[in-house]
Amino acid sequence: MAKDSTKQRDIENGNAAQVLEEGIQHVNNPVLDLPEIVKNYLGAVTGYHQEDNNFYFTDGSACVEIKVVSDEIIRVRLAPKGQFLDDFSYAVPQSDQHVAVYNFEEDQQVYRVKTNTVTCIVRKADFLISFEDREGKEYNRDYAPMHWEENPDFGGYYVYCTKAAVAEEAFYGLGDKPTHLNLRGKRFVNWNSDTYSFQFNQDPLYRSIPFYIGLNDGNAYGIFFDNTFKTYFDFAAEAHDQTSFWSEGGELQYYYIHGPHMMDVVKRYHSITGTHYLPPLWALGYHQCRWSYYPESKVKDLARNFRERKIPCDAIYLDIDYMDGYRCFTWNKRYFPDPKKMIKELADDGFNTVVIIDPGIKVDENYWVFRDGKKNRYFCRRGDDYFMEGYVWPGRCQFPDFTNKEVREWWGGLFKELVDAGIAGVWNDMNEPAVFGRGTFPNDVRHNFDGYRGSHRKAHNIYGMQMVRATYEGLKKLFQKKRPFTITRAAYAGTQRYASVWTGDNVATWEHLRLGALQLQRLSVSGMPFCGTDIGGFSGEPDGELFTRWIQFGVFSPFMRAHSAGDTAEREPWSFGPEYETLNRKFIELRYKLLPYIYSVFWEHTKYGFPILRPITMVEQHLDSNIQREEEFCFGDKILVSPVLNPGQHRKTVYLPKGGWYYYWNDKRFEGGKEHEVDTPLDEMPIFIKAGTVLPEYPVMQYVNERKIEALKLLVYHADRVTNSYLYEDHGDTFAYEQHIYLEKKFVVKGGATSLKISQSVDGLYSEKYDAYELSLVGLPFEVKNVLVDDASGTVERDGDGRFRIKVPKDFKSIAIS
Ligand code: GLC
Repeated sequence: MAKDSTKQRDIENGNAAQVLEEGIQHVNNPVLDLPEIVKNYLGAVTGYHQEDNNFYFTDGSACVEIKVVSDEIIRVRLAPKGQFLDDFSYAVPQSDQHVAVYNFEEDQQVYRVKTNTVTCIVRKADFLISFEDREGKEYNRDYAPMHWEENPDFGGYYVYCTKAAVAEEAFYGLGDKPTHLNLRGKRFVNWNSDTYSFQFNQDPLYRSIPFYIGLNDGNAYGIFFDNTFKTYFDFAAEAHDQTSFWSEGGELQYYYIHGPHMMDVVKRYHSITGTHYLPPLWALGYHQCRWSYYPESKVKDLARNFRERKIPCDAIYLDIDYMDGYRCFTWNKRYFPDPKKMIKELADDGFNTVVIIDPGIKVDENYWVFRDGKKNRYFCRRGDDYFMEGYVWPGRCQFPDFTNKEVREWWGGLFKELVDAGIAGVWNDMNEPAVFGRGTFPNDVRHNFDGYRGSHRKAHNIYGMQMVRATYEGLKKLFQKKRPFTITRAAYAGTQRYASVWTGDNVATWEHLRLGALQLQRLSVSGMPFCGTDIGGFSGEPDGELFTRWIQFGVFSPFMRAHSAGDTAEREPWSFGPEYETLNRKFIELRYKLLPYIYSVFWEHTKYGFPILRPITMVEQHLDSNIQREEEFCFGDKILVSPVLNPGQHRKTVYLPKGGWYYYWNDKRFEGGKEHEVDTPLDEMPIFIKAGTVLPEYPVMQYVNERKIEALKLLVYHADRVTNSYLYEDHGDTFAYEQHIYLEKKFVVKGGATSLKISQSVDGLYSEKYDAYELSLVGLPFEVKNVLVDDASGTVERDGDGRFRIKVPKDFKSIAIS
């Protein structure tokens, strides 16, 4: 007990492992003469009362609130001394949803809070809480009653929840952890950290997403531990039959989110924490970044190369060197004498300019941002009222307290000049917050926390989120109608409402390419859908093969950006010689062809909360985990990809979920529910399209909206059953979609041995700019003789790939092919 307690205390004091190798490794930092830990556990329930959909249970001194949030979501809170903390959350803007029905029952042993789908059971004798479905199947239960410990550091509590882990239970989620998809057998800590060149299994990294999904016997549920302090998760690591989560402060407050489908758990998680707004269409194109492109002539040269070489690109990034001495919101006029003119010229050539902005504000009385911030007391202060100062790129800096609404508004307004100069997006970096030398802020730094004041212990993990929130809200106001693009390195649950993310300073190795495939899937199921890696690796240097394989994976990364550190060799798609340039062009072009599909998948996320990337486990929850290839995933529900992650690999085994699949490169049909071997020469990566799909394709363009589309291509992949596909279209750049100015098209395909029927229904008020569709029929098992388009006869041709091609008006209702 004493030994374990010391170990436990080590972790709680922040001395937890920096690197987790297969399980747990604690940093050797013995804290001597520690007092014995006294943990208080909930005792037997002595009474309850109800206030609407909130139920309160007590053991005589502590109190537990069970709140019915929705039919599928229950929130649990613990007040050790009976007094709940203020009900305020940065992650969950609104915790009351529509609840259809809820009931309360009591018998000798238990209390039951029931909705239409889930029952929360509180056991009277020992206060153990469990969750069942309507049929009485148990999904999750406490192993021990909730417990706490006085926190001698600041008078609050360490709070603990220990759940039973079932033998085969697997665990997913938790944000950006760089490890295998299934988290079982591992222990993690959430504390946003600047982790240059991080390694496999390193923990923590840049983001804190205290949300996980448990999957047991094909049934899934989620736990969202909404606590911004340093939090810990143990997935059957210390004890094979227990999963625990705990925190160094704040309230023990978690949401139980019912499944049984993982997809539903993720959607329901989004229903409380929000979804990502619909990005501007250009943000889904290819982005080119480097630390840094300067001076102006270099930026222009870069742009010219893209266009001359005919490699599509929509965005160019300016890293810290565009500023004057790294002062945010300024320009280095020697390198960029006329930013507005340059940005306009880039925009005329189809490039959006994205600039980096860090939180550290240089201490310099001649710098207006510093003077303003100082005068208005916008910078963070230490416990003794001195300013929080630390060194970052500009040298000595102070840091805005983004947890203060007034500061956020000020910050948002600072973008005015950049917006006037024409920037299209902002990249927020170093916002863990990162400070050279000491890593981050000391714990005594004070934060406003939107009126619920607290120290950096409470605000650290949401500092970056509130920074990018200020950035996003400021840009949204300044852009008026246009959608901003924002990206952040640090995040907490809910940040998806304000920004996309990238996985930070990765390395140019094959292992990091693999890690990227795991991290992006994990971020996607953890509620951070718009995510990407630094393609090619930030530090180190890839060879041509690694870069090309990374570009291929990048096509199916929700966010596609190449980025590299300044001390590395050039890293553009043409930097590795003509052979690789051709390959990189081919795959970047593929991204542009798939844009209408990719955009539709984003819409399904924004509107319905679907994740963008879906691990195979999510597609086939009952699948034996030994068969799963964890790097394989679906992008939306129609495309499956299996990135090639090894040098010289020219063949690969892929697992295809049940149903028919077509190999994208040659239309060959494969049966799912088993493994297949496919060739993977460098100019191909395994991409499969689900049978029955209607896949929209744009013609290749050098940037989004380069030219008008005459007819939209629809690839129709035959299946012997009825299938649905969706296509979403809108302006691509405004918020008009919030007023229903969009089109949501549904295609129903009924395939048979001798006939194919396609019908279309359309919802929304937008008018697309093309007049017709060009249908390309893939895998048709019969020769086409008759085509009827809304009862008039149509014509059919064969294209170069041997597919039948039919041109139809865009407003067709139904097509019958036999
Ligand atoms: C950090 C970022 C990296 C950026 C660099 C310079 O390391 O993670 O992307 O290029 O700072 O701003």
